[in-house]
Amino acid sequence: VDPTLDLYTEIQKLKKEKNAVILAHYYQEGEIQDIADYIGDSLGLSQQAAKTDADIIVFAGVHFMAETAKILSPEKKVLLPDIKAGCSLADSCPPHLFKKFKENYPDHLVITYVNCTAELKALSDIVCTSSNAVQIVESLPADQKIIFGPDRNLGAYVAKKTGRDLVLWNGACMVHEIFSREKITKLKERHPEAKILAHPECEEHILQLADYIGSTTGILKYATSSTAKEFIVATEAGILHQMEKDNPEKTFIPAPPNNTCACNDCPHMKRNTLEKLYLCLKNEMPEITLPADIIEKAVKPIERMLDISA
Ligand code: 13P
Ligand code: SF4
Repeated sequence: VDPTLDLYTEIQKLKKEKNAVILAHYYQEGEIQDIADYIGDSLGLSQQAAKTDADIIVFAGVHFMAETAKILSPEKKVLLPDIKAGCSLADSCPPHLFKKFKENYPDHLVITYVNCTAELKALSDIVCTSSNAVQIVESLPADQKIIFGPDRNLGAYVAKKTGRDLVLWNGACMVHEIFSREKITKLKERHPEAKILAHPECEEHILQLADYIGSTTGILKYATSSTAKEFIVATEAGILHQMEKDNPEKTFIPAPPNNTCACNDCPHMKRNTLEKLYLCLKNEMPEITLPADIIEKAVKPIERMLDISA
């Protein structure tokens, strides 16, 4: 790409020319969030993907998110700036193994967290996100037997919140399992007034410290409406961009990881760059394509989720 090119202006131009919309997750680089038409959590992004009248959806997020957009809007062209932007949590649940696992529980309903492959969604009864997982489980009869996958931490959190006994798949997100309870506790001693905000993909010993647990949108809203001035944030660091933008007078401290070499960035989310976004819109690739039978099967559990959370 010509280094003198103003990528921001070029992207705006291409977007208009091609009737494209840019949907970005809060874990994207700040400059990508700033050019997006919509920024949100997984639920908000899938709702936008379902209702947009654009011809092209550029999904600034990871593969499973772009797949979800394609499943909801199969007639649209869905582009992902870097096709290798995957997800360790989605990878922790290979569909062929999950299929076998599911066979052990024939009378169970399958709820899958949206952070999974399209193939896994096709094996599910209802999809959920971190913002509606509790609501979705509670919408089912109390005696309904449930398998929950792939995230064991979100699953354990939902089981605790609802008092239900969920059969959990043993998957996790590499970013949300790096936080150190000991270091967060020490940080809190130095900032006694700070509120601790955590994503439910974190381990239980981290969630126990939290003043608020929720999705990225939930975390952002909580920080904006809170009277507190300082926050310790236990989720991917990309969310800090919007938190700081919306609340310039407040201080946001990323929760410290166990290993000093580690950081709170998701390597998959951060594969996308403004330059890749420009190129993907210009060349209309990489494009997300899915077999028609997978779309047909996977759309049902996603629509069921959207209906429950409407
Ligand atoms: P939410 O934005 O839905 O909270 O999801 C977080 C996440 O880990 C996405 O990969
Ligand atoms: Fe997947 Fe975790 Fe990255 Fe989200 S933060 S995309 S769950 S690896």
